[in-house]
Amino acid sequence: MTFNRNLVAIDALDSRLRTSASRLLPLAEGYGQRDSQTLKLLFANDAERSAKFSLTVDEIHFDYSKSLIDSKALAALAELAEACGMQGAIGALFRGAKINQSEGRAALHTSLRSPSAANAPHAALVSETLTSLREFVGRVHSGTWTGYDGRAIETVINLGIGGSDLGPAMVVDALADFALGRPDVRFVSNVDPAHLTRMLTGLDPATTLFVVASKTFGTLETLTNARAARDWLVAASDETAVSRHFVAVSANIAEACDFGIEQSNIFPLWDWVGGRFSLWSAIGLPIALAIGFKAFEELLAGAHAMDTHFETAPLHQNLPVISALIAYWYRHYGASPSTAVVPYSQDLSLFPAYLQQLYMESLGKSISREGAVITQGTSEIIWGSAGTNGQHSYFQQLHQGTEFTPVEFIALATASVDDADERHRHLLANCLSQSMALMNGDEASADVGGVHWDPQKTIKGNRPSTTLLIKQLTPRNLGSLIALYEHKVFALSVLWNINAFDQWGVELGKRLSKDVYAALSEPAQSSGSAESASTLDASTRALVQIINSWRDPR
Ligand code: F6P
Repeated sequence: MTFNRNLVAIDALDSRLRTSASRLLPLAEGYGQRDSQTLKLLFANDAERSAKFSLTVDEIHFDYSKSLIDSKALAALAELAEACGMQGAIGALFRGAKINQSEGRAALHTSLRSPSAANAPHAALVSETLTSLREFVGRVHSGTWTGYDGRAIETVINLGIGGSDLGPAMVVDALADFALGRPDVRFVSNVDPAHLTRMLTGLDPATTLFVVASKTFGTLETLTNARAARDWLVAASDETAVSRHFVAVSANIAEACDFGIEQSNIFPLWDWVGGRFSLWSAIGLPIALAIGFKAFEELLAGAHAMDTHFETAPLHQNLPVISALIAYWYRHYGASPSTAVVPYSQDLSLFPAYLQQLYMESLGKSISREGAVITQGTSEIIWGSAGTNGQHSYFQQLHQGTEFTPVEFIALATASVDDADERHRHLLANCLSQSMALMNGDEASADVGGVHWDPQKTIKGNRPSTTLLIKQLTPRNLGSLIALYEHKVFALSVLWNINAFDQWGVELGKRLSKDVYAALSEPAQSSGSAESASTLDASTRALVQIINSWRDPR
């Protein structure tokens, strides 16, 4: 395995960074020239490696000793972080500087979980909103919030997408062990009618509450689903029922009121909270409804604990920074443009999907903060699934593929359910054995006394991974885990000098969909040659024509 150095990347880095970056090249070259036993050599050369390349913060232990990196490279990377102004950038994040410079906004998700007594920016506003959330959640749980026929709420459906869905849905899934059981909290995000229609099947409108979660209150999928849900409710009752069965979370109060939601039923969101960083805000309402407000506050406290670590720990002992430096190292000196995140926890099965937005909507950019084209590779492609399932799906590629893909294992020392010790030990044994196999390969596959083994069965090993070991999946530890990745993403944005908090790339597709929608709204048998199709390219126009000829407007 060789490390493909991205030489252009070094040239693209401004002089401020070139010194430390150029120090990295020989190290990377070193890896390229060494034999394929590098990981084994690193352990053989340093009996203390496991201890030196591990870090524990509260109940989270980060083992990065199976990373293809040595102390010299790590020191050079920490120097690079220093040269990138990492400490200053972290300070700017927490004090609310307008670091989202393309939108002229701060990124203050950390204020959402700072204890109300603290002097974090907007503390009073956050505290006030948490109080109103607590009161509302209490009324739903006590049954004093009732539907149009006086019965208590049995089911809550969150209507939202992206950051208004992925975070809350992942947390509710992950903390199933802490669920109160009533109301049953569900999530609908896709405009595909199958999503809402199937979710509503069998539900009683009289005991169903909808949370319309949309920071802009302008997202097509969410508003289309909200209108369909309102029609479903009104069909069973009348317009007056909307005030009992719809609440909203939004930064656009006017639009939410226009939809017909009473202002007293709208929980505010603010422009200094990015969508993918918003589960700590009122967007987390479905979480609090599912697990109770006290557990939601534990989630916030766990994130705050990781905030304090990120803000105060020196770079070389800073968990999010070290994790970011290793990702940076592989991205520029490694081979794979992707990273697999594999939580060995069925409760965390939605975590990779949540990380996809957090990572790739924040870091999937090619223009620097100053508007220059970035020539070095930025965000890796994040993918993964729960283990052990991944072993029966894509682990073949991880073990014998043509290039290595760094793997981030996440494991829980304690099971989330009772009477499960034996099965849980099998789960953990598989997690640890996979990282061993990636690193060591199959001893038998080496030449043994000149006897060559079947190359098809050769597992070369020397494939890096990290392991995040969490004592137990509690609200507090989950909050710390999520904040860890938020800060890792931010640290990478500092290294790559990009804005992690805007997402201009998602706007064009939304705009173009309007013309395509118009062309698809022609009569079913039309040729699609109408004016609305004239703006479409030949391929899209042809597809529209086939759809219109095949579509059966049921
Ligand atoms: O994907 C684009 C995006 O704006 C995300 O950043 C956001 O989380 C999602 O759409 C939903 O936006 P809103 O909460 O405004 O409906």
